[in-house]
Amino acid sequence: MKVTNDIKYIGVNDHQVDLFEGQYIVPRGMAYNSYVIVDEKIAVMDTVDVRFGDEWISNLKAELGERKPDYLIVQHVEPDHSANIGRLIEEFPDAVMVGNAKTFAMIGQFYGLGDARKLIVKNGDSLELGKHILKFVFAPMVHWPEVMVTYDETDKVLFSADAFGKFGANDVEDPEGWACEARRYYFGIVGKYGMQAKNLLKAAAGLDISIICPLHGPVLSENLGYYIDLYDKWSGYTPETKGVLVAYTSVYGHTKEASLYVAERLKEGGCPKVKAVDLARSDWAENVEDAFRYDQMVLATTTYNMDIFPFMRQFIDHLTERNYQNRKVALIENGTWAPAALKVMREMLSKCKNVVETETSVTIKSAMTDENKAALDKMAEELLAAYK
Ligand code: FEO
Repeated sequence: MKVTNDIKYIGVNDHQVDLFEGQYIVPRGMAYNSYVIVDEKIAVMDTVDVRFGDEWISNLKAELGERKPDYLIVQHVEPDHSANIGRLIEEFPDAVMVGNAKTFAMIGQFYGLGDARKLIVKNGDSLELGKHILKFVFAPMVHWPEVMVTYDETDKVLFSADAFGKFGANDVEDPEGWACEARRYYFGIVGKYGMQAKNLLKAAAGLDISIICPLHGPVLSENLGYYIDLYDKWSGYTPETKGVLVAYTSVYGHTKEASLYVAERLKEGGCPKVKAVDLARSDWAENVEDAFRYDQMVLATTTYNMDIFPFMRQFIDHLTERNYQNRKVALIENGTWAPAALKVMREMLSKCKNVVETETSVTIKSAMTDENKAALDKMAEELLAAYK
């Protein structure tokens, strides 16, 4: 598949993967992208997942005919992109691996390959293929420390590694468009490293880019401002959409009832968007995505072993480890004899920067009372004030 006259797509689609990176459901599969730049010298951009070596090599050979690759640029050593480095070296022993010092340390740890030919580059170095000049820009922690992106000055193409990637194979249409699965991917995988993603955007702002070639998801060639603006918001932890995520756990339905009650009051009050989710019965990564998408959140959970219900603990951990910040939250607890969930949730959220709690919090002792309902009405009013 052609990206430009000299750049071809040689990646693969995966419809067998059960959990991407061992934890993310991918109902529409996954794409491992790889590209080849054909010039006087030939450069292959990354490899693909271990299970797709044959298909990938065959895609590469179909583009090259009798020619052989001179370079394999390794932008990211995570095995979804590096697992076939050895396979390429086996087929083309004269090919030179291009990476930085950290790249080669990791390649050694995963694959050995001590005898393979190497070119070690530094941040800002260039590599000339003929008319194409590749510039390497280091992007540490987007998503591993060795990551670098590559800018082709001739065709104005940014090979962006994991940045601008999404869940989903490239051979099935995503009815939700690009942003939904790109946001779930970003906050799940890169969310913790907003500052580093922002640094990459700053470096990219100085480049004249016509096409973005990520390692997952579609090649982006139109309306690049749309994608870059979203990445700017996401990496800055700026809410993207006005609305409230109501995230709850419930054992016998009473906490659920309170959560849906407050969600209804929010809807009636004209809240731009309300989404209520049962944390035990929904995709955690989608819930994390929504927590970062909206500007406010209600958390409702039961006291459990003098702690909080495990699905809520795990959810808050997912948020705090990804630097959840700049949001308003409202808290609801339930406890029949010694409610402790408010205290535990507050302690967990105290690590977050600029997370403000509503004045109203609600304690339910088993089943909701009229007094609880009045307090939930007040909580809804406080949240709705942001949209008046
Ligand atoms: Fe797609 Fe961080 O690997």
